[in-house]
Amino acid sequence: MTDILVLKGISKRFIDENTVCQALSDITCTIRRREIVCLMGPSGCGKSTILRILSGLDTADSGVVHGCNGEKTGNIHTAMVFQEHGLFPWLSVADNIAYGLTMKIRSRSREQIKRKVSDLLSLVHMEDFASSLPHQLSGGMKQRVAVARALAVEPEVLLMDEPFSSLDPFTRRELQDEVLRIREKLDTTFFIVTHNPEEAVYLSDRVIILTRRPAKVLKEIEIPQSYPRNMAEPELIALFQEITRLVSTGST
Ligand SMILES: Nc1ncnc2c1ncn2[C@@H]1O[C@H](COP(=O)(O)OP(=O)(O)O)[C@@H](O)[C@H]1O
Ligand SMILES: [Mg+2]
Repeated sequence: MTDILVLKGISKRFIDENTVCQALSDITCTIRRREIVCLMGPSGCGKSTILRILSGLDTADSGVVHGCNGEKTGNIHTAMVFQEHGLFPWLSVADNIAYGLTMKIRSRSREQIKRKVSDLLSLVHMEDFASSLPHQLSGGMKQRVAVARALAVEPEVLLMDEPFSSLDPFTRRELQDEVLRIREKLDTTFFIVTHNPEEAVYLSDRVIILTRRPAKVLKEIEIPQSYPRNMAEPELIALFQEITRLVSTGST
């Protein structure tokens, strides 16, 4: 697998009314094309900050982010899905998905946009809800639309910040299976922040675990088991226990 995103020596601190908060300290890691990587670590250690830097919403104090072709942060084509879906409440499901398209790809005709929205709606199984408003949808459905909207701009890496943590376990599993299906279909690369070790073991090819603040990479764990995964398998249970231990103790 070739690299798609390389972070080298990323550091970041925040200064608030004379208080200095060192969030990230020398974060180095690589995401490979078509990988699903979960990022874990204690609350407040800097996971969201890393995603914000990768998406261009924030900048690092030092270090570099390289895209697959050697370009810098702003040129890496990413999209973000947040824990709260972030849909525009006044726009229909279809218009929420089309919004990113009309903003990003101005040259597309109305017909092209319509076709693309319809493809995305069926990709996330929401074709029957094109004209619904967000408040008419369940939490899981809103998150499906948020995923479709993010995929509309054809990101090379889809960044997700605790995307399923407000969903019930059954809906969460459905959405995790959607991620696996979308990767098969579109070859999307996923970089997902989660605080749920079970989710990391079920979904990811690799888990990157951070220490407490200032965050460094504590350990990377490969999960070689094929999909779909049976979480009752002893190897997966052992990985779940190991990841839980690493995140909660912050030491190897
Ligand atoms: N804009 C900001 N100004 C000041 N401090 C911030 C800002 N953003 C994040 N922080 C601080 O940086 C640390 C890491 O935050 P964050 O990346 O949101 O953690 P996580 O997502 O791992 O819970 C926290 O201590 C947080 O309070
Ligand atoms: Mg966060």
